[in-house]
Amino acid sequence: MAFGMVFSRFNLERMNFQLSEEQIAVQQAARDFAQTELLPGVIERDEKQKVPLEQLKKLGELGFLGMMVDPKWGGSGMDAISYVLAMEEISKIDASASVCMSVNNSLVCWGLETYGNDEQREKYLRPLASGEKIGAFLLSEPEAGSDATSQRTTAEDMGDYYLLNGTKNWITNGSTGSTYLVIAQTYPDKKHKGINALIVEKDWPGVTVGAKENKLGIRGSDTHSIMFQDVKVPKANRIGDDGFGFTFAMKTLAGGRIGIASQALGIASGAYELALKYSKERKAFGTEIMNHQAVAFKLADMATAIEGARLLCLKAAWLKDQHQNYDLAAAMAKLYASEIAQWVTNEAVQIHGGYGYVKEFHVERLLRDAKITQIYEGTSEVQKIVISRTVLK
Ligand code: CAA
Repeated sequence: MAFGMVFSRFNLERMNFQLSEEQIAVQQAARDFAQTELLPGVIERDEKQKVPLEQLKKLGELGFLGMMVDPKWGGSGMDAISYVLAMEEISKIDASASVCMSVNNSLVCWGLETYGNDEQREKYLRPLASGEKIGAFLLSEPEAGSDATSQRTTAEDMGDYYLLNGTKNWITNGSTGSTYLVIAQTYPDKKHKGINALIVEKDWPGVTVGAKENKLGIRGSDTHSIMFQDVKVPKANRIGDDGFGFTFAMKTLAGGRIGIASQALGIASGAYELALKYSKERKAFGTEIMNHQAVAFKLADMATAIEGARLLCLKAAWLKDQHQNYDLAAAMAKLYASEIAQWVTNEAVQIHGGYGYVKEFHVERLLRDAKITQIYEGTSEVQKIVISRTVLK
């Protein structure tokens, strides 16, 4: 009995679902920003594939582009939980802005802060953390998407510098970004142990930004191929030890998956909130449609799935904040949140009926935006590789 009491006290102390005042303030600030700055024009930006450059600049000034970076490097010094909360709020309204935010925060800034050296942090991280510059993460290639060990881009060791050649595909922030973290093969015979991560500046000779992809969703985010031809990258721009590039990419992507999971969560909760509101206003068969069980049960299922996704995102972020391993939790959050985002947004369109199929009601955009969350930063199948390898051990 005494042991039971001690045990339950222990659990009560460790399991805390209460957000701190600071976290609530960050959530509110992101919500306000999304409503006032991102909502106006979001439909037009989607149609015209226009990047929300002005809004990204303001996001940077608010400290949302370097959220988890130490203030000594120009960041906001917030925790990963705050990052999840902010990502959810921004993604409810504009997933194109939020993917830029996610890549800059969790792939580029986190990677540089964690594995870069002080010179690299001063020169490259500081302007990225303040939003003065935007970063991009260049891993995917025409023949190395999910199979990330099969890098064809080469970084030949020339003594003082690497000679970079190859093509990267599907690069988020390809033209908005000016600081690239490039994953390239230096010793092909060593496979993933011969890969390096290099910091490359977009305006260096030999770097070419390809045409913008015309996408199904997140159309306000710019996605490009980037070509490298005999680009000289100083050795000082290598992140970590020689051959560390693949581990760098995997470690960085785990945090990135928390960002994209939170993006999927936000897309789902944005669509749910619109469907809930609509179901309280729209009348059919003599009553508001929320009074029909067919609609009420859909909303109940949607709310439950979203809460599950939110808990997985927060758990992964909490583990990260506690400096515990979060690879598995991040993969689970990304897998589940992206799958339910696809389903929830589809249900939101269904609840809206014909109105859901036209742009003014926003849910068709959220349905299109949701799809990419099952693909980038590792497809759902990649997440299942990561999860199954751990749970089957
Ligand atoms: N941390 C450290 N090391 C890791 C690791 C991790 N999380 N995961 C794997 N590794 C190491 C392994 O230990 C192994 O090293 P050793 O041989 O020394 O033991 C090595 O990496 C190779 O690992 P695997 O044998 O597991 O490699 P695999 O090829 O079988 O599978 C994979 C790996 C999980 C499928 C991986 O290739 C992967 O994650 N692919 C998806 C890539 C991806 O997410 N791309 C996204 C692009 S960025 C993006 O999308 C940004 C954007 O636009 C929004």
